[in-house]
Amino acid sequence: MKIAMVGSGYVGLVSGACFADFGHDVVCIDKDPGKIARLQAGEMPIYEPGLEELVRRNAMSGRLTFTTDLPAGISGAGAIFIAVGTPSRRGDGHADLSFVHAVAEEVGQHLDHPAVVVTKSTVPVGTGDAVERIIADSGTKVRYAVASNPEFLREGAAIADFKRPDRIVIGSDDEWARGVMSEVYRPLFLNKAPIQFTSRRSAELIKYAANAFLATKITFINEIADLCEKSGADVQDVARGVGLDGRIGSKFLHAGPGYGGSCFPKDTLALLKTAEDFGSPLRIVEAVVKVNDSRKRAMGRKVIEALGASDVRGKRVALLGLTFKPNTDDMRDSPSLAIAQTLIDAGVEVTAYDPEGMELAGPMMPGVAMMKDAYAAIEHADAVVIVTEWDAFRALDFARIKQLARAPLLVDLRNVYEPEDMRAAGFDYVGIGRG
Ligand code: UDX
Repeated sequence: MKIAMVGSGYVGLVSGACFADFGHDVVCIDKDPGKIARLQAGEMPIYEPGLEELVRRNAMSGRLTFTTDLPAGISGAGAIFIAVGTPSRRGDGHADLSFVHAVAEEVGQHLDHPAVVVTKSTVPVGTGDAVERIIADSGTKVRYAVASNPEFLREGAAIADFKRPDRIVIGSDDEWARGVMSEVYRPLFLNKAPIQFTSRRSAELIKYAANAFLATKITFINEIADLCEKSGADVQDVARGVGLDGRIGSKFLHAGPGYGGSCFPKDTLALLKTAEDFGSPLRIVEAVVKVNDSRKRAMGRKVIEALGASDVRGKRVALLGLTFKPNTDDMRDSPSLAIAQTLIDAGVEVTAYDPEGMELAGPMMPGVAMMKDAYAAIEHADAVVIVTEWDAFRALDFARIKQLARAPLLVDLRNVYEPEDMRAAGFDYVGIGRG
């Protein structure tokens, strides 16, 4: 089947390349000519493990092409995916749907054959109805249906998540649309990926509810970690003991500096707005957002406290890892931003190293000295802080760190190391939730 993917950002590009890999004929469309030119030249606009190879292979085979021309791109496509951004609207946290609506209008103006229009962008419940109206209002004469098909990709593991999903959610009551979507995802059914057909509104809500639940799980264990610190328990053991209960599960119970990224912060806010609009408040999610926001600055204060001086002006702190999680260059809402700012506000000199994130981080953290590797960042530091658990920081050379740093102090915001091992290596060690 021919598939059109409107929007060649994170979701559109990964989904488009994976659909092509399944044997579909995919056109990725984007308004940004620079992005399309780079993609045509085989250059990736984002860092995602395995993506460059996947795109190259499918582009070479002719199954994956790129264009800025929407009318040509959607021509003959049986499924037209909308995968454009839905950023937080400035001021109120609502999802900004202007890109989604603009695509719906353009699709409506140019659609000249039967097709299913599928929203893959994360959109508030009821958006599918609006998309359907916009297409109808633009005067199209052909048969079409609007379905919702949320994506659950994690950055850094997006290709594996697409190819081996926990589930595929298709929101549409239209039998014809369900048939077309079954055809689109047939290669995954053959792998026995569970597929859930549901109403469009339920599908839209599933995505937000899933993200809010995961954000809640993380925030819950983060607060338990604070309690562990005060009460002499170890959150690593508590999380393991809790997670072994099959009803709870061990995933997303890793305490840390707070969640960041392109989805959880934005989607939790947008869900709160939707809940408010429907007069059905979500008080747990409200608390999660507040607790997570304040945690990021609290992590900066934790580092200051670990420095142990009443006046930390002129002290030097090395941040290892800046991205909101490993295996991405994404800096959106990363805890490192608030941590660095809190340190700088207290008069601390901050150096940093990140394997992939420094190009994007540089302009966002003007007061931070970006260094060429971890050890250059650590030189003369009074404290080393692990902010993001990149593999490169899992086997640091502590003898070398002792020589380079001014003091052997490790603040491990991801609990990568064991407190006893670090003490044996002669370090003062501060982890998360390790009382
Ligand atoms: C998330 C969802 O997992 C994905 O399904 C959705 O489509 C998009 O949002 P992503 O933002 O890529 O994916 O990252 P994820 O791996 O979920 O991590 C999000 C944040 O939570 C990161 O800041 C991470 O460090 C933090 N986290 C995650 C924890 O602090 N503890 C955990 O146990 C898990």
